[in-house]
Amino acid sequence: MAAGIDDIAIYIPKLYVDATDFAVARGLDPVKLQKGLGISQMAIVDANQDPAILAANACLKIMQKNKLSPDDIGRLYVSTESSFDESKAMNSYVIGMLEQVYGQDTFEHCGGVETKFACVSGSYALYDNTNWIRAGEAEGKCALVVVSDIAKYDMGSSGEMTQGAGAVAMLLNDDPRLLVFDPKVTSTSIKDEYDFYRPFGKETPIVHGQYSNLLYMIQVRKALEAYKRKAVSTGLIKIGADETVLDHVDYINMHLPYSNMGRKALAYLVRHEWRQLPRWKKVLQKIGSEEPVPNDPQGTIESVLGDEEFMTKDHEFTKMFTKTPEYQEVYEAKLASSLIASSMIGNLYTASLYLGFRSSLEFEFQKRVDLEGKRVGFGSYGSGSSAMVFSGVIQPRYKEIVEGMDLEAEIGKRRRLTWDEYEKLHENKLSPDESMLQPTKEFALVHVKTETESRGERHYIFTE
Ligand code: COA
Repeated sequence: MAAGIDDIAIYIPKLYVDATDFAVARGLDPVKLQKGLGISQMAIVDANQDPAILAANACLKIMQKNKLSPDDIGRLYVSTESSFDESKAMNSYVIGMLEQVYGQDTFEHCGGVETKFACVSGSYALYDNTNWIRAGEAEGKCALVVVSDIAKYDMGSSGEMTQGAGAVAMLLNDDPRLLVFDPKVTSTSIKDEYDFYRPFGKETPIVHGQYSNLLYMIQVRKALEAYKRKAVSTGLIKIGADETVLDHVDYINMHLPYSNMGRKALAYLVRHEWRQLPRWKKVLQKIGSEEPVPNDPQGTIESVLGDEEFMTKDHEFTKMFTKTPEYQEVYEAKLASSLIASSMIGNLYTASLYLGFRSSLEFEFQKRVDLEGKRVGFGSYGSGSSAMVFSGVIQPRYKEIVEGMDLEAEIGKRRRLTWDEYEKLHENKLSPDESMLQPTKEFALVHVKTETESRGERHYIFTE
């Protein structure tokens, strides 16, 4: 049985920090954010919002748009790394909120869990729910997979310039209008690592940014190797001489902690894939140098990052490589459109990859590309660490979904925060009733209880 994504909805908080304001306040060159990282704005949550609210708002949007009733939904998963409870799953809060709109106990028949593995858990949730449908367990019902996060880093840390927030809700069924997942090719890699983690009770993560970036690329490459093996052995893809698996994937969506990470990761994968092919000689001629090799090619990530001479040469080589017409063609055709939303919204952790997919659909459609039958590849990465590589094919009825996509309209009117407002929100100095914006037709946080017997209980309302 086929299964995949029928529709997508997003919810993005309407407050944002402008990259220039951020750079000025932190004494940075604005060009570093805009050109170096590809960041223009970072969405920030209001004082009456949490990740469950972002998820519930995205769910409500997709249900209302598709005129779904709770009876149409068999599973509701929420994937997040911004969890605020060690036991109570975030989807239970979301169901509580949705039942304020649809009626008490209307989701009682539904199942689901909160999933966690940094930014990759949404991909595992999609895979598990796709298989629930493929196995014939769904009894005609749909699954809702919601990826929702608030990417918040310590004040003054190097991660602070890669913040953001938002949720993406994906409706899965056995006759999807948008994308059918390719069967039997989903591939993973996993390794115990400390590149990015958030110990119990800490609101912000501990991050080793450069280490994490390199680990991300290595782990995705490993998952891609497994994907390639499966794609060939199942007959999904036939790789000819002077071809790579990437030649058979029309669009590539990468995990985007910031927009330019997609460009960096694609360049890494393409270099790895092309290295064995006759076309690589031509590329090297254009760059005018051999590919640099670390002092200790079998070394650790630390030894590679510590090899300053190699890092400088490799940085230079990558810059030259990404300027070659060969790479530019791949970048423009397969990746560029997926990066646009990220630069306007920022880091969404679990939701970043899927905001990128949503972005790619909208901006490729605007270029009047016929997307039917195109194969879309996904390179998902979660720190700690695990990667997942999988793919799907765009379906004949995709236009019903994609022609209505309008990122700016869906985000709604945004408000640029002053630096003082940003700092107050970051330091959690405002209570929910001191929110910057008054929500309409959205869920909002009213109160979090502090009494011993009910500590942590959250009270939400739907505002008419
Ligand atoms: N003008 C133009 N570009 C500039 C610049 C300037 N003045 N200054 C720096 N840059 C470029 C750098 O060359 C670099 O580009 P490259 O990636 O192509 O090499 C980019 O801007 C970033 O600069 P860098 O010095 O590497 O940034 P940093 O070390 O201060 O921090 C991160 C960048 C991304 C590592 C950091 O913000 C971070 O850790 N973020 C968190 C990411 C995360 O959460 N990862 C885990 C999950 S995947």
